[in-house]
Amino acid sequence: MPFDKDLIESVLKHADIVKIISSYLSVIKKGKDYVAICPFHDDTNPSMHINPEKQIFKCFVCGTGGSAITFVQKYEHINFMDAVRKVAELSGYSDPRLEQKQFVKKVDSKLEPLYKCTRDLTLYYQYALGTEEGREGLEYFESRHLDSSLRAKYQLGYAFKDGEATIKFLQSKGHSLKTIEDIGISTIYSSGNIYDRNQGRVIFPICNQDGDVVGYSARRLKDGTNEAKYVNSPETKIFVKSNILYNYHIAKEKARIAGYIYVLEGFMDVFALARIGIDSAVAIMGTALTKEHIQMLRKLNVEVRVCLDGDLPGQTATIKIARELTNEGIPFRIVDNVGSTMDPDEILNNEGPEQLRYYLNNLISREDFALNYYKRSNPLKTVEEKKAFVKEFIPILVGVKTQLELDSYLRKIADITGFEAESIRDLVKRAKRSQSENKFNEVMYDFHPERKALKKLENAERELLYQMLLNVSAIKYYEQFIGNFYDVVYRQIAAFVIEIYKTDGQIDPLSVISLIESSDIENADELIREITNTMSETTHPDFCSEELLDNLKQSIQDEKQSLFEKEVLAESMKGKSPLEQARILNEYNRRRAKKELNDEEDN
Ligand code: UTP
Ligand code: MN
Repeated sequence: MPFDKDLIESVLKHADIVKIISSYLSVIKKGKDYVAICPFHDDTNPSMHINPEKQIFKCFVCGTGGSAITFVQKYEHINFMDAVRKVAELSGYSDPRLEQKQFVKKVDSKLEPLYKCTRDLTLYYQYALGTEEGREGLEYFESRHLDSSLRAKYQLGYAFKDGEATIKFLQSKGHSLKTIEDIGISTIYSSGNIYDRNQGRVIFPICNQDGDVVGYSARRLKDGTNEAKYVNSPETKIFVKSNILYNYHIAKEKARIAGYIYVLEGFMDVFALARIGIDSAVAIMGTALTKEHIQMLRKLNVEVRVCLDGDLPGQTATIKIARELTNEGIPFRIVDNVGSTMDPDEILNNEGPEQLRYYLNNLISREDFALNYYKRSNPLKTVEEKKAFVKEFIPILVGVKTQLELDSYLRKIADITGFEAESIRDLVKRAKRSQSENKFNEVMYDFHPERKALKKLENAERELLYQMLLNVSAIKYYEQFIGNFYDVVYRQIAAFVIEIYKTDGQIDPLSVISLIESSDIENADELIREITNTMSETTHPDFCSEELLDNLKQSIQDEKQSLFEKEVLAESMKGKSPLEQARILNEYNRRRAKKELNDEEDN
């Protein structure tokens, strides 16, 4: 079992969060709490509060919070079990269970033959590079400055021109034709004979997160022919492209030490960075950055540095990636490639290592990048063009976090367009307002009473969740009478709470946080944020009485009922004429008002 609950609970019992955080930051006592300058955002005031009684920390500005383990994990960029060990060490607590290797790699036995096959094939390609026929491949790599240590590190190889021999070799190693087909390298001649589709090319193996080869990219040796430059393996059971970032298995360890990771366009760029000592880099291999890629980057918990080509497709892709990373709340900067026509590989070869280092360190914000980008794609001569420019820029400004930054961008845009900064600020404000309204409308329909219902429901569920984090009676009550929260995140947290209660017979929020952290749930951060938020609120009733639970249940049921009615109502209005809709709505509001009046009289 990867998660030893007893062990983690003993570690936390022997740890004092104030002491742990003090060994990283200077901590000041303030009332019952302690405060510190938050290391997880650009903090100037001490915004991070440490609560010794509850043994949690919480930053009131950036929202980061959790247990002592959370803190160490985030601060040191290490994985959960390493953070557990570190906390034990800092507390002077030793436990033999901490010595054991916690993570055993999951192996899917059905896929094992495929991995075996790619292992043999990769070795075969590497061997071919050293043969007489392979010399051409070797010379190609040499011409691209890929020396023997780089070739070994990235398992580079060569595929013999006789592709049928490759298939025969794999068969002689005991791999079935089915397996060979399943790894995606075979093609069939019209004669019916099977051959290696990579034949006559140099080979770049592609690995998954664990470093197993799952596919290949094969490059033509000579440019100027009309053959495809790269031939890539098709999707297979082990090569799922949306999950693969080239070099991730190497970069993931290095990123934690470096504190950043470069996202590049091609693997040649990965090699270029490696040649100047930067191993914390991955390539998206010419495709889009997928949701899965973003999760892989998020897990590293470091600054992402987007570095695509400076041509138009590269810049357009950068704008899109920047939007996605912003939406996902991942910290990032962009290598300022405007006007650069070379990729990192070409910069290194043509201008040298210093120039490449300089290029990679020229990092700018999303806003500055977008400013350059839109400026270049818009002549900015007529008022219409200037207006269009501002309009494109508003959604980006809406995301700017501090007033100071916003001011500086408003000034820049004002300079460029000649419009008043204050008028642009008004547009930003208006966009912000309509954005939050839109967010709301996505979940709910656009009329008034519903909004109130949602808020009330959320509050009631939140209170019950808080009580569940501390009291077994509330958990039992939830299981018996509620069953499911309406709010998805609360529902997820409740599942973890119940899990802890089922195995322990008791409950405490630190165990819940630890369980979430050690699980591989995608939105772990969000769940922990919610828990520490509600734990930090001072408005909760002290005592979890039966009466309180009954009241919460009543509110939850009522509000769910009214949401349900609203959905029915929306359904009944579909396809009706506007007049008819207005009539239905009016009738609904009248009934509703009457009911509210009755409710108030009851109270
Ligand atoms: P580039 O065309 O920028 O390749 O494509 P590159 O890295 O500069 O390669 P060299 O220097 O010409 O050898 C970037 C990435 O897009 C994918 C590859 O993964 C490449 O690394 N690509 C490109 C293909 O899959 N097929 C192609 O034909 C071209
Ligand atoms: Mn190139």
